[in-house]
Amino acid sequence: MNADFDRRFLMDWLTEEDPLRLADLWRMADTTRRENVGEDVHLRGLVEISNFCIRQCAYCGLRAPNMQLQRYRMMEEEIMECARKAWKLGCGTLVLQGGEDPGLTRKAVGAVVRRIKEETPLAVTLSLGERLFDDLAHWRRAGADRYFIRFETSDTELYRRIHPSLPSRSSDRLAILEALKEMGYETGSGIMIGIPGQHVHSLVEDLLLFRSLDLDMIGVGPYLPHPETPLGRTGAPSSQSFSDQVLNSETMVYKVMALSRLLCPEANIPVTTGLATLNREGGYEQGLQRGGNVIMPGITPLHFGRNYEIYPGKVRFLEITSAVEEIKKRIRSIGRTVGSGPGERQRHVRGTLPGRVSLE
Ligand code: 5AD
Repeated sequence: MNADFDRRFLMDWLTEEDPLRLADLWRMADTTRRENVGEDVHLRGLVEISNFCIRQCAYCGLRAPNMQLQRYRMMEEEIMECARKAWKLGCGTLVLQGGEDPGLTRKAVGAVVRRIKEETPLAVTLSLGERLFDDLAHWRRAGADRYFIRFETSDTELYRRIHPSLPSRSSDRLAILEALKEMGYETGSGIMIGIPGQHVHSLVEDLLLFRSLDLDMIGVGPYLPHPETPLGRTGAPSSQSFSDQVLNSETMVYKVMALSRLLCPEANIPVTTGLATLNREGGYEQGLQRGGNVIMPGITPLHFGRNYEIYPGKVRFLEITSAVEEIKKRIRSIGRTVGSGPGERQRHVRGTLPGRVSLE
């Protein structure tokens, strides 16, 4: 297998439009998923602990200059309440996500992680943006198991345009991912699909990067325009912009999920809320049948969560308990099982490099 062959293979699938041929891709991804991570669908309770953010990302509704947002930061006891709820509802992992918020101090996050690990059996995933290595190391020592940070796109020019660096340091998410691995975290990353200016060629590179980073978790979702952002005001991506523009369509998200599964057979791949937002009726089921093996039900109390508006129209439930029961029903309706325990990355001994799969 050589790099040119891989690129051709990925490009062919990303540009395939025939539903009958695409059915082959879905089937391959589903088989690879079954053989490597089995029938279990793991539930990760998602708590959005703060919507403060010091960054100015051109795409994200939490960006600092957005004055239309009521900002909040949850208190330790409120987060613990969510942790107990997630545990009770059958989640094996709690994901603490937030904007890049200096108010989430090293000490405060460390303390809540320590308490969750002492008082519950939950695995803890952090998703708190680009933080100092000393913060990340402190949280690892406090017991955090995983860290998730998307590199968003491997097109460095596009990334720079939509994700301005802080004046004090440049943004190097790949370096952060490497450091996280060194610290012993399970690491996750991902991209947005359909960013205006994103070329299909760069999606090929994104996918190859997933493999070379040997990611434990891969989260991909559609780019959804937010009206209070510079990029959102330019509207949705369209094939009129240039022929190679990636569309933020449901099918494109499935393609990237399926190809991620082929490249990284052992990774945990969630059906993201972004995808569920594009297709409320069948997004979870189809995502689970096209490579996905994880769902992240929102556990954030609604009076906080409705202000966590990364993009508009995000799927949210009034009543969390019945929403999670509904998700379990949907998992079982397609013949899958609800996972128990932390659902960490499985490692199989192979004759090849980790995460490498023959695409022939
Ligand atoms: N549409 C879709 N996803 C978005 N994110 C941020 N803004 C948007 C948007 N407008 C994603 C980014 C980020 C994660 C927290 O949310 O990929 O890493």
